[in-house]
Amino acid sequence: MGVRDGFDGFLSPEGVFSLDLATVRGILPRGGTILGTANRGNPFARKTVRDGQTVIEDVSERTIASLKALNLDVLVVVGGDGSLRIARDFYNKGVPVVGVPKTIDNDIDGTEVTFGFDTAVNIATEALDRLHSTAEAHHRVMVLELMGRDAGFIALQSGIAGGADVILIPEIPFRLEAIYAKVMDRIAQGTQFSIIAVSEGARLAGGAQVYSRPGDELHTPRLGGIGEVVTTFIETTCGLEARLTVLGHLQRGGTPTAFDRFLATRFGSAAIRLAATGAYGRMVALKDARIVDISLDEALTIRKRVDLNGDAIQTARSLGISFGDE
Ligand code: F6P
Repeated sequence: MGVRDGFDGFLSPEGVFSLDLATVRGILPRGGTILGTANRGNPFARKTVRDGQTVIEDVSERTIASLKALNLDVLVVVGGDGSLRIARDFYNKGVPVVGVPKTIDNDIDGTEVTFGFDTAVNIATEALDRLHSTAEAHHRVMVLELMGRDAGFIALQSGIAGGADVILIPEIPFRLEAIYAKVMDRIAQGTQFSIIAVSEGARLAGGAQVYSRPGDELHTPRLGGIGEVVTTFIETTCGLEARLTVLGHLQRGGTPTAFDRFLATRFGSAAIRLAATGAYGRMVALKDARIVDISLDEALTIRKRVDLNGDAIQTARSLGISFGDE
């Protein structure tokens, strides 16, 4: 059975439907999810507006009752940190649960990679490739703002793959002076252009993350604007022409890469094997290029971040890429 719009599906009469062959035929090349998703559908603290008032209610028992009434054996939860935490909460309430890690941010511990990430990195890399044309021809600094709320994996990997000169990620607070030094150094060496890849969650040393919209009772704050800060600095302080591109949700849609399709299919197949053997409270994961499973507790203990001593950072530094912290 498929559940529409996250856990919300359990609370609506049409929310659970048969996932037969006809329903899933042709989904391999499609991005997103045919099930739909919910940003604020946490059944333990569900936020709704009633009579103009924001109401937060715990509908977890109603969700469990619906699950039982449907005679479902196991709940397979596909999602990122938030969804998997809810899955664990249900497991702790006695619901048989299996988790599948899916987020473009790649910030789930215990798995080498989540599915969706590879597609996002490829799109970001292609964007960097395309920005090179204008950068080189017009002698400009091109800034690309990428997704990555608290983890900079997308900017880091696409930045290296796409030949960025500066990569700014949430894990490494940066100084504008260091960017200035890098861009000017390139000019001194005879290269008139630079490319900067910046995670939306990156922040200035001693500063805070930049939001395009503050949060309220119903919505989480929306990141956005750090690319503008960097671009304005380049134009005003460095006196160079700069342009900003915000890639946004283009990174999160469209045809998935073969890697993501292969990984998602292996994860799905492994999740069903866990369900069939009664190995609940566990999440499928990729380790040493093999599919394994780990407990949800283990997966959620730490929030995965870019390893500052890892080989990707070392590689970038040895290529002369600046993280804005020199
Ligand atoms: O969590 C994944 C993510 O892509 C983040 O990188 C980004 O901050 C967020 O989702 C954007 O969410 P929304 O679709 O609500 O704008």
